[in-house]
Amino acid sequence: MYYEDLVPGTGRREPRAWLRSSAPVISLNGSWRFKLSAGPSEAPVDVMSPTAADNDWDELVVPGHWVLQGYDRPRYTNTAFPFPIDPPRTPAANPTGDHRRWFDLPADWPAGRAVLRFEGVDSCFKVWLNGAELGTSKGSRLPSEFEAGPHLRPGRNLLTVRVHQWSSGSYLEDQDMWWLPGIFRDVTLRSHPADGIDDVFVHAGFDHVTGAGELRVDCVTTDPAYGARVLVPELGLDLAPGESVAIPAVEPWSAEVPRLYEATVVAPGETVELRIGFRTIKLEDGLLTVNGRPILFRGVNRHEHDEYRGRAVSTETMRQDLVLMKQHNINAVRTAHYPPHPAFLDLCDELGLWVIDECDLETHGFIYTDWQGNPADDPAWAPMMLDRMQRMVERDKNHPSIVVWSLGNESHRGRNFGDLAAWTRDRDPDRPLFYERDRSYEFSDFYSLMYTPLEELERIGSRTEEVPAETAEDPELEARRRALPFVLCEYAHAMGNGPGGLADYQRVFEKYPRLQGGFVWEWIDHGLLLPGATDHVYGGDFGEKIHGSNFCVDGLLFPDRTPSPGLTEYKKVIEPVRVTGPDPLRIENRQDFATLDHLEFTWIEEVEGEEVAAGTLTVPTIQPGASAEVPLPGGLVGGGGERWLTVRAILAKDEPWAAAGHEVAWGQFELPRSASVVPDASQRTVAAGHDRIRLGPGVFDLRSGLLVELGGLSVEGPRLDLWRAPTDNDNGQGGNNDVVSEWRAAGLDRLEHRVDAVEVGERELVVRSRVAPDGLGLGVRTTYRWTAAGETLRLSVDVEPDGGWDGPGGTIKPVCGSWPRLGVRMALPALIDRVRWFGGGPGEAYADSRQASRVGRYSATVDELQTPYVVPQENGARIDVRWAELADAEGNGVRVDGAPVFQLTARRWTAEDLERARHRGDLVARDRVYLNLDLAQNGLGSASCGPRALPQYVLAPGPQSFAVTFGPLSAG
Ligand code: GAL
Repeated sequence: MYYEDLVPGTGRREPRAWLRSSAPVISLNGSWRFKLSAGPSEAPVDVMSPTAADNDWDELVVPGHWVLQGYDRPRYTNTAFPFPIDPPRTPAANPTGDHRRWFDLPADWPAGRAVLRFEGVDSCFKVWLNGAELGTSKGSRLPSEFEAGPHLRPGRNLLTVRVHQWSSGSYLEDQDMWWLPGIFRDVTLRSHPADGIDDVFVHAGFDHVTGAGELRVDCVTTDPAYGARVLVPELGLDLAPGESVAIPAVEPWSAEVPRLYEATVVAPGETVELRIGFRTIKLEDGLLTVNGRPILFRGVNRHEHDEYRGRAVSTETMRQDLVLMKQHNINAVRTAHYPPHPAFLDLCDELGLWVIDECDLETHGFIYTDWQGNPADDPAWAPMMLDRMQRMVERDKNHPSIVVWSLGNESHRGRNFGDLAAWTRDRDPDRPLFYERDRSYEFSDFYSLMYTPLEELERIGSRTEEVPAETAEDPELEARRRALPFVLCEYAHAMGNGPGGLADYQRVFEKYPRLQGGFVWEWIDHGLLLPGATDHVYGGDFGEKIHGSNFCVDGLLFPDRTPSPGLTEYKKVIEPVRVTGPDPLRIENRQDFATLDHLEFTWIEEVEGEEVAAGTLTVPTIQPGASAEVPLPGGLVGGGGERWLTVRAILAKDEPWAAAGHEVAWGQFELPRSASVVPDASQRTVAAGHDRIRLGPGVFDLRSGLLVELGGLSVEGPRLDLWRAPTDNDNGQGGNNDVVSEWRAAGLDRLEHRVDAVEVGERELVVRSRVAPDGLGLGVRTTYRWTAAGETLRLSVDVEPDGGWDGPGGTIKPVCGSWPRLGVRMALPALIDRVRWFGGGPGEAYADSRQASRVGRYSATVDELQTPYVVPQENGARIDVRWAELADAEGNGVRVDGAPVFQLTARRWTAEDLERARHRGDLVARDRVYLNLDLAQNGLGSASCGPRALPQYVLAPGPQSFAVTFGPLSAG
């Protein structure tokens, strides 16, 4: 059967570029008739026949996936094939969707040839026009074209498409993503005039020494007898196809300055519009250069994803993705792991992104056969693989944004990649090739790895990495590999809360020229909202036996495209302008091509978070890679209290991706301050009824030693808290780097509090307790010391690990080298719903993800403090908080002051509730607000796929002291 053979397609036209043509076109997107069968043998036999009835069929939106429109269900696996591995055979249960579309040919439709084009059909299909078979095709994320002219009829026509979810092609499409069958990209019918244009290949180089451009536009006309001309009006060019011309001065294209020249290719019967970007890509002295300069990828891996529509993404969504990337200082996209919709690449040309265009090719699931039968190494599969590369390169070859072709992802080593590389080098010698998983790199122009720990990255940067086994026996290949530039094609797994450590990676990228940057995994969470649902689904939500759980929910954007804290952090870490100071104040241009003249630099001086002065800095023109010292603003006013100077780099004028005033980068510096005021004299303890004692604004229960009332509010706690709802990164990956198991083994998730003494002194209350889990010898001796001054109540906590704790490498079991958090938790009345604070903000921050946090005054509701991770987990901590005020609508509430700072978390559920919840809908508000006041939390790391938090971010068990002061809300 065609869906199980090793033929990439039948009846298809030769692949060619995606062209904007003047030839008449009809969009066949819209509502189609649809019928789903459980397998090919159950499918109706006469679907293609115009006389067969389809009035009892359903309606389906094309482009779309039937599994997201109420038929069958989506499946998510990471690496596993959701069918037996028996290539090229498919399972009997091979959902087969028949699609029928009636359409009217306009009266003025030109007679003659016409091309029926499918931009993407997952995974294999057969097409008939008015009952006549046009052909078949595989390769889901690639276009297929069929000659339709001879079968078109005036007036009404019937197009029938049978789509099989599984095919031999599925063995090449085992990317970590949802399996989403269907006609998910556009379908068009375009007239194809005999005197028209078949294909165009733009070659546009730039000589960075002379500033000259070089242009040649190859052109295939439908009939070579008809000539075509290439016109570039702005450059006064009128060329023959294939004619090379040197242009003395052009403006080059780069991701920073995406200069495009409009051009047309004109044949008698058809005009094609092009946008030309002049740039030259080279590998020179072991580095990738564009227009003579090495570039640094500040990239993301992007899957096509829409929470409702899956991979059937609209042009608006594509633009939204790119606008968000540009607004967050991202300069590169790897189209993981297939060529995107072609319109996306047009937008990359226009808005300015470096693109690694990746072939629709991944055979990852053969990991379960120990790579036996891997198509990548079986010559019988070479045509299927090569077809994919050819269709990608031919479709996308005219985009200046594409600077690298990727042969595919995670398909192990295989000789067929040699065929792909050889063909591509011959067809397009002007772009380098990329393939990560063959550790000999013989078919790649880059050395690359994924999720590499920092120490290893340092070794790679200094070219002192270990020799991979694959090149150990081959000195020539090893010498070639060692001379290659390095790109970290995936790192910083953005699953759930995280990734931690972005700043550390960036520091290393910037230190070694060989490291040309990386691509965060990944851009967007693949949570799906099925019809009528409010919670996003992920693997396992259908009771399926094989699934990848929430491993596809690992993006910098939430499924609805709201930026996550991880994206905010990334934006700060990769900012193209670095402001350091305050004395001297230095502005560094970290771009490769553009000056900073498009930016305006403003400053603001704040005392205790309140603005006291502001202005604009005069900054000279700073060339790429250069920096300049700028005098401190003259108008600083100073004053008592904490003083901060914040310098912001904002867009001076509108850009296509952001309006004037958009903040690109910032720096913040503490200025010298005057001494703070010492609080007044202390209060005495006073009996307050049976088993109760009052101290300042606090009332305590003498049996439990707990605070029960604070400034008139009924409260519970505060008590020591070491636990947090594990993050995806805490959980590690498949038993690797699973810090939560260590925490659980040490009983941190089930600590019991024993009060050993409640000592009432004249001016203080001391509560001594031991906090420990059942069944283990370890514990934490905790002393709470309460004093009061005026209307304030101060708590200082001393923590002393007791028995059985041991650090990494220790001998006492359990070995627990970290605590999730160290602080106290208390409960406040549920009416408390608003929070103001002075400290880090506005968003959440953790030890190794805190660059984006800046000191200021902020406010938020308790609900707004929550970060809506698709799978609930620890979130929402604000760091460096000097003080916070929590209040209800009536103005009742409490103020907390740090000594000097604390971390603040407030939520309507407990950490245990958060831990139990699998979806956001599982979180139900309790009749309390739970407040965590922490000295510290453990770092985040990115161990859900990659390394743990670096040692400097680990909260190691040990003696600690910290304090907070409770008091009344400030007036107003
Ligand atoms: C990589 C893979 C990606 C994704 C990622 C983890 O190995 O290329 O597709 O699975 O790991 O989320």
